Amino acid sequence: MSFGAPHLHLRLTDSTNDRARELAEAGAPSGTVVTADEQEAGRGRHGRRWSAPPRSALLYSALLRPLERTHRLLPLAVPLAVCETVEELGAAPCQVKWPNDVWLEERKVAGVLIEARPPDWAVIGVGINLTVGDDEFPAELRWPAASVGGDAGTDSARRALDAALSRWVDAPAPDVLAGFRRRDALFGREIGWEGGGEPRSGAGLAEGVDEDGNLLVRVADLEEPIALGAGEVSLRLDTKV
Ligand code: BTN
Repeated sequence: MSFGAPHLHLRLTDSTNDRARELAEAGAPSGTVVTADEQEAGRGRHGRRWSAPPRSALLYSALLRPLERTHRLLPLAVPLAVCETVEELGAAPCQVKWPNDVWLEERKVAGVLIEARPPDWAVIGVGINLTVGDDEFPAELRWPAASVGGDAGTDSARRALDAALSRWVDAPAPDVLAGFRRRDALFGREIGWEGGGEPRSGAGLAEGVDEDGNLLVRVADLEEPIALGAGEVSLRLDTKV
C-alpha cells in the first residue's frame, strides 16, 4: 500500500476529509491524497472544529480501500506514522495520547480523524500544526497545542506523511501494538472518561492498550480493568506527571 498518488491539492476547501469522501464514493483508488492550504470547515473528533491559518498546518486526507479486518488497529497505526513525520521534520520525540492525538512535549501537535464506510473505504484525516504561532491557536482548545516549528513546510510534511503511512497502515498488529506502547502518553496516569465504556463515565489509572487497541483503565474496587473503545470516549487528564 502506497499513499500519495494521485494527489489533489486545493487552495481552499471546507474539509479535505469531505473532498476525500467524495472521491471515495466516485471510485478513486486507494492511496489518493487530498491536501489544502486552508479549510473553512475543518473537522476534529467528537464534532469539534479544527482550524489553522493558511499554509501553517498540513491538512491532509488519504483514502484507504478496501477496509479490511487487518486494519482494525488503524486508529493506533496512523498516529505512529504522524509521530515519525513530525520527528523527521526536526521535532523532539513524540508521544500518542490514546487513541490518536500526537503530543510534542506534553502539547498536542497533530490530530487524526478517521471516517470510514466499511468494508469499502476509510478516509484518514490528519492535521499537523507546522508553524501555527502560540497566539494563533483557538482559545477554546481542550489541550494545550504546539507546532513542529523550524522551517517545516507543507510539501515536505506531506511527502514524509505519505511515506510513513505507507509503512504503518499495513504493518503487522504486533508491530503496531509495540510501537504504540513505546509512545503511550497516558500509561500510568490518572484519567477520566465519559461517553462510552461500562460504566459510561468514570476515572482510574491508564494501563495501556489491549490486543484490540482498547484503552485499559484500572478502577478502584474492580478486579479487571475497564476496556474503553476508541469510537466515542472523551478523555481528560486528572493528574500531571
Ligand atoms: C482531532 O484532533 O480532533 C482531529 C483533527 C483532524 C483534522 C484534520 S485536518 C485535515 C482533515 N480534514 C478535516 O476536516 N479534518 C482532518
